[in-house]
Amino acid sequence: MPIHSVDIVCGLAWGDEAKGKIVSYLIQQNQYDWVCRWSGGNNAGHTIYIKRKKYVTHIVPAGILHGIPSYIGPDCYIHIESFIKELDYLKENGFDTSKIRVSPKAHVITDDHIEQDSYYKKTQGSTGSGIAPCAKDKYGRIGLLFESIDVSLFKNHTEQICLNTTELFGSLLCEGAQGTWLDINYGNYPYVTSSTTLPYSACSLGFSHHKIRHIYGASKIYDTRVGHDPLFPDSLDNDKELLSIGHLGKELGSTTGRKRRVNWLNLDLLIQSIDLTGCTILIVSKVDILNTVNVFKLFY
Ligand code: IMP
Ligand code: MG
Repeated sequence: MPIHSVDIVCGLAWGDEAKGKIVSYLIQQNQYDWVCRWSGGNNAGHTIYIKRKKYVTHIVPAGILHGIPSYIGPDCYIHIESFIKELDYLKENGFDTSKIRVSPKAHVITDDHIEQDSYYKKTQGSTGSGIAPCAKDKYGRIGLLFESIDVSLFKNHTEQICLNTTELFGSLLCEGAQGTWLDINYGNYPYVTSSTTLPYSACSLGFSHHKIRHIYGASKIYDTRVGHDPLFPDSLDNDKELLSIGHLGKELGSTTGRKRRVNWLNLDLLIQSIDLTGCTILIVSKVDILNTVNVFKLFY
């Protein structure tokens, strides 16, 4: 069976737009054969509540939390030890990790990459997970492919970890990581990540853009940012209303635990992002937080 339709969830801002929650909701409403990650690595953190219990995933797509086969595509970066740790964590929590597959062409983040990332951590506030150094080797064509990893490392989870994109079939839900303004081409370079976060790059999973049905764009009712970015104003860092939004909205990074800087929603950027992504359905989260604070301001 070929791939017949594709839905995509993408971030419209700087990541942390509750994509995980949206993916989790969509899986329960639709029949997907696969949930796929198309970019990034364990720099991402997706927080999902199931029956009121909190789970955090970093590289494994949220499909696995609902028993749907999940796929990590060729444009992703994988740190093997962290990946196995995440698989163990999921299995210990009762999830079926035998349904996880990885593209043989995904790139491996080595401990050396993580060490080199301390430079990016210092200068740009990267997550320190080795993304930029791994991307450097990938595009320098000296990287390490996932297919060269000993498959017996995954024997506690699955006999067959590798799957080519050509073997995906049916209905796909693609789970974005990060967001438009962290995209390597569209964000405030070099204060970006080393991935194409825009939904067009989900096609790296092996389908034509003609197969795309819905693009769900995720935003919050206010903006947040972790990591350095001279274009994300910090003049309001001590603003009382914004501080209480950050507090009530629990704006702490799920990967690094860093405090996210909060600002009022930049409407111009949101409109640009909707245009760029081609988002067909807009989902705005955390409106309830503003209800509690009882103020709403916009940049435009
Ligand atoms: P890197 O992806 O670790 O290289 O980090 C590059 C920039 O992207 C830094 O500003 C990070 O804080 C930011 N970043 C990377 N992944 C995420 C994410 O999942 N959510 C929010 N920010 C992220
Ligand atoms: Mg996140």
